[in-house]
Amino acid sequence: MKLSRFMRRRLSISLPSRHVVILISLMAFFSFYMGLFTHLFEKDYHTEFSYPLDMDVLPLVQQLQMNGKIDELDVQPINVFNYSYLKSCRHKCPEGSTPRLVFVIKSAIPHFERRQAIRQTWGYEKRFSDVDIRRVFLLGRSPSSPDQEMAIDREDALHGDIVQADFIDAYNNNTLKTMSGLKWIVEHCPSAQFVVFADDDMYLSAKNVLRFVRQPSIYPDDGEDESPILKREHRERSLKQQPGDNLSDNLETKRLYAGYVFHSPPLRHRSSKWYVSLAEYPYHLWPPYVTAGAYVLSRQALLDLHYGSGYTKYFRFDDVFLGLVARKARIEPVHCSQFYFWKKPYSSTSSYRHVIASHGYDQPDELRRVWFEQKSLGNA
Ligand SMILES: *[C@@H]1O[C@H](CO)[C@@H](O)[C@H](O)[C@H]1NC(C)=O
Ligand SMILES: *[C@@H]1O[C@H](CO)[C@@H](O)[C@H](O)[C@H]1NC(C)=O
Ligand SMILES: *[C@@H]1O[C@H](CO)[C@@H](O)[C@H](O)[C@H]1NC(C)=O
Repeated sequence: MKLSRFMRRRLSISLPSRHVVILISLMAFFSFYMGLFTHLFEKDYHTEFSYPLDMDVLPLVQQLQMNGKIDELDVQPINVFNYSYLKSCRHKCPEGSTPRLVFVIKSAIPHFERRQAIRQTWGYEKRFSDVDIRRVFLLGRSPSSPDQEMAIDREDALHGDIVQADFIDAYNNNTLKTMSGLKWIVEHCPSAQFVVFADDDMYLSAKNVLRFVRQPSIYPDDGEDESPILKREHRERSLKQQPGDNLSDNLETKRLYAGYVFHSPPLRHRSSKWYVSLAEYPYHLWPPYVTAGAYVLSRQALLDLHYGSGYTKYFRFDDVFLGLVARKARIEPVHCSQFYFWKKPYSSTSSYRHVIASHGYDQPDELRRVWFEQKSLGNA
């Protein structure tokens, strides 16, 4: 009411200034809508950052890893994944196994075809005779479609690769899904050396992941300058773990949290799917985080992120949430441009030679075509 009285008074004045007023009003509305004012009230990420729990969580994380007893802790966790597992794949990593790589794939209940294509391509567990790879799919529940739930039961009986927890399977619950995956690894596959979290609409190359984790900072140095024979040897050699390749000694991969790293501001644009209010997150930047489509964690990074997540206030975007936990646990994300968060054009067969992951493969037939072609070229 106040505004319209104000407008009426303003509009009764002479013509040119009336236009000016309308223009200014429009600009003000536009700025509000685009979140420009919100930006003015943001806090400085570099100097003012703090996020609950506001304390040094690393000692707590270490305490938990030493004995794991919650009731003996000085500080109780504030964010615990406490939904039960309806399917827990408890035989995926039997006692004594030490998988080199475990794929933890965030899927959705109706994506039966995508899961099938992944089992046949990059998620194939027997891809290499001498590298131990495992795969599980993460799901929530769909109480409104009992038929699909029954189909999931059959799928799990057939493939034994479904990890399902008791929360609603919805986009909004993505952080819960990620937390269900971290907890599952810690409880059921703690000896895994590297874990790749991926979405079910990704192309992935297990071969390039294995090359990458050997020495992330120089990937994709593929011995380009060497003779063809040496080059081939170099590429084959780099797949396997070498003697003297002591993971706990290797500083570079000890706490590896790697993928495509973003240093970006929160979106304050009100119509955005990713709109975030100041009350929810007040700083002008996110902590550096790896985009969610695909990322690699070493065992130690995974343990620290899992236990650290208990001391980090829940955040609904799963990749930002992990970035927040990583910052609290003082893990530096490692950037590699061969994790494509968009769809890397398949312009020629050689364009995917170094690709570790690419988004945009929600069509199972296309995934099969591209992956089998890359496999035949030694790139997948
Ligand atoms: C599970 O965790 C949530 C959030 O941390 C908490 O509000 C709830 O009380 C917990 N439930 C149980 C059964 O512990
Ligand atoms: C999950 O998402 C749904 C729909 O967005 C929501 O209703 C529900 O409360 C969320 N949480 C859990 C634990 O299922
Ligand atoms: C790897 O290094 C750790 C710490 O230095 C040591 O305790 C362990 O015995 C080593 N393992 C192997 C296989 O050399």
